[in-house]
Amino acid sequence: MEKVVSGIRPTGNLHLGNYFGAVKSFVKMQDNYDCLFFVADWHSLTTHPKPEDIRRSAKTVMAEYLACGIDPSKASIYVQSDVKEVLELYLYFNMNAYLGELERVTSFKEKVRKQPDNVNAGLLTYPTLMAADILMHKADKVPVGKDQEQNMEMARLFARRFNRIYGVEYFKEPESFHFSDKAVKIPGLDGSGKMGKSEGNCIYLCDDEKTITKKVMKAVTDQGPTEPNQPKPEVIQNLFTIMEVVSTKDTLDYFNDKWNTCEIRYGDMKKQLASDICALLSPIRERILDVSADDAFLEKVAREGAERARESAAKTIREVREIIGFKS
Ligand code: TRP
Repeated sequence: MEKVVSGIRPTGNLHLGNYFGAVKSFVKMQDNYDCLFFVADWHSLTTHPKPEDIRRSAKTVMAEYLACGIDPSKASIYVQSDVKEVLELYLYFNMNAYLGELERVTSFKEKVRKQPDNVNAGLLTYPTLMAADILMHKADKVPVGKDQEQNMEMARLFARRFNRIYGVEYFKEPESFHFSDKAVKIPGLDGSGKMGKSEGNCIYLCDDEKTITKKVMKAVTDQGPTEPNQPKPEVIQNLFTIMEVVSTKDTLDYFNDKWNTCEIRYGDMKKQLASDICALLSPIRERILDVSADDAFLEKVAREGAERARESAAKTIREVREIIGFKS
């Protein structure tokens, strides 16, 4: 079976955009691939999070992914910092990674621009740690967003370079699996484009019904259509796009007709949308609450995930040491 590896940044709660993107594709992949998903808590140190937040945010993402349907009997989930082997591979890759190419990575350049007072070496070598995460398990496919493509290219480059330097055919180049190509992009509620974490833009999977309804009712709209069948402006299309994924076809057709005949009432549409989002999310929210409260279960999943990850990691490290010339 082909192997799939992906890392999840522990950046707070999952929202509807994550759900229809990464989360759904992970859940689907666990049936057809040998999957290893991990919480990238070492990567998150580039921003110097508070000690008390680190374990908690790892726990939050794990609980939310499990609540959405990641099944530990099919896929393994582990916390990156529980599998120390990756650090050794990170070191080896760093020895073959050059300052110039690391500095040219777009996300690094962006960070330099946005946080000039925290341009640390971890940020610079983010791509080598990510390559180690992936190559350590000899992943065939890596589900990632489009924004990760440059990091994926670096991972392939480091694999090729290692093979070339040591004259081996050891690492294979991992393929990107862009879930953004297949998934619907969920727009935000404030008309600014993609759903993101800013205020008023985002519906979290753990939001309660009151919060969801309030957020949807406040979504940005316009004056309404003035001519039959006119194209929809972006803010309105956004609501329809969300409706496409959370509501039935009948509901969608109904509001499309109302739009086309200029009879649409945004208040009605939002009420319907809110209620359909609540119907989708309320079982998920309940599972999030249950799983989050079950420390024993979370610890078991993380422990078993780490054990499995360590198996392939330890094998890789043994072989790599041999190739590099260290006696194992
Ligand atoms: N860089 C990824 C992101 O920001 C997270 C990540 C870390 C990752 N290591 C990985 C993804 C390995 C895939 C494979 O989303």
